[in-house]
Amino acid sequence: MSQGKEIILAPSILSADFCRLGEEMNALEEAGLKWIHIDVMDGAFVPNISIGPPVVECLRKNSNLFFDTHLMVDRPERYVDDFAKAGSDLICVHAEATVHLERTCARIDDLGAKPAVALNPHTPLEMIRYLLPQLHMVLIMSVNPGFGGQAFIPFSLQKIRELRAMIDEAGARTLIQVDGGVTPENVADLVDAGADVLVSGSSFFKFPPYDKRHEMFLFLAENRFAQDGM
Ligand code: DX5
Ligand code: ZN
Repeated sequence: MSQGKEIILAPSILSADFCRLGEEMNALEEAGLKWIHIDVMDGAFVPNISIGPPVVECLRKNSNLFFDTHLMVDRPERYVDDFAKAGSDLICVHAEATVHLERTCARIDDLGAKPAVALNPHTPLEMIRYLLPQLHMVLIMSVNPGFGGQAFIPFSLQKIRELRAMIDEAGARTLIQVDGGVTPENVADLVDAGADVLVSGSSFFKFPPYDKRHEMFLFLAENRFAQDGM
């Protein structure tokens, strides 16, 4: 990649076939994917319920993918130990869901997982400014969390740009992840704005084969760098 920056595509498990999750994980690995984005919903923080630690534990047994675990859960500090034990590599909690965000992130780090924080579309970046040095990743939600297949909220692009500037100014190495309504049409703009990790659910799983879809996403991301001459 011309800029030397690695772009990661993280397919969202929410759009995978839940009847054959193990096979889906294997297919992703065979297709060259490195990450799986695991959406955990509690029916309280978001109006939907998905999967919990036992499923993560089961998938872990047969997968070498990087388990990027997005906890859309109220008071996530109650569950970070369980997800770390189940095999999550990264645990992402919502800033809106926990009062003691710094403590929760420090706990995730102590457990040997990578700490990350997600921000709902309306939540200001100021929530995480002072945490940046200790965060592996910040997740910019570009839809209101709870469901796959929603439309990208346009102001998220400006938010990514501002976060990129904030991270650079802090001299931090924090990754920027974007989740919600990510498609081949907007992927170049997202990377151009500063995104490192692109989550894609419906726009990925509905268009097999996975290796070709993965290649297409990455090609579009890389092409934008080439146009910029970087
Ligand atoms: C939404 C979830 C997303 C979702 C993305 O609440 O956090 O990860 O699965 O799905 P798409 O890519 O279809 O918007
Ligand atoms: Zn998600």
